[in-house]
Amino acid sequence: MSKRLTKKMIKQLISTALDMRKMAYVPFSGHAVGAALLARDGRIFTGCNIENSSYSPTICAERTAFAKAVSEGCREFEAIAIAGGFGEVPETYCAPCGVCRQVMVEFCDKSFNVILAKTPDDYRQYALEEIMPLGFKIEDVAAGTYAERS
Ligand code: THU
Repeated sequence: MSKRLTKKMIKQLISTALDMRKMAYVPFSGHAVGAALLARDGRIFTGCNIENSSYSPTICAERTAFAKAVSEGCREFEAIAIAGGFGEVPETYCAPCGVCRQVMVEFCDKSFNVILAKTPDDYRQYALEEIMPLGFKIEDVAAGTYAERS
């Protein structure tokens, strides 16, 4: 475990992600998701899902957080906590969609921590490489190193 990603920090990220569910704009699905993204410099960027009448413009909580971070000049990350569900309290772990995993691959290394949480004490922790073993990286195509990457 990295120095910054202590149990205390994991709990803080999860609490933040749970809080962010309140900001979710989800008139179509009713599925409220919050995310808290920990940068290497210690900053925490938050996100929620924002749906749209035209459906496809919908953005997930995770990508909202990444967009906020990258647009603030931050490109190095350590962990993300994600909490989502239909009820007041998430009834299941909410796994990131494929598009969000691909965004993680763009900015994070294999050991980036993905924390899926129901409560600050009830969560599952994965390394990005476990949940996105062969994400697309243009430099791997250019170098022909796909086979070696994961
Ligand atoms: N959603 C997220 O925000 N993050 C995920 O990890 C999975 C799905 C959102 C998109 C949509 O607003 C709603 O959940 C239902 O798919």
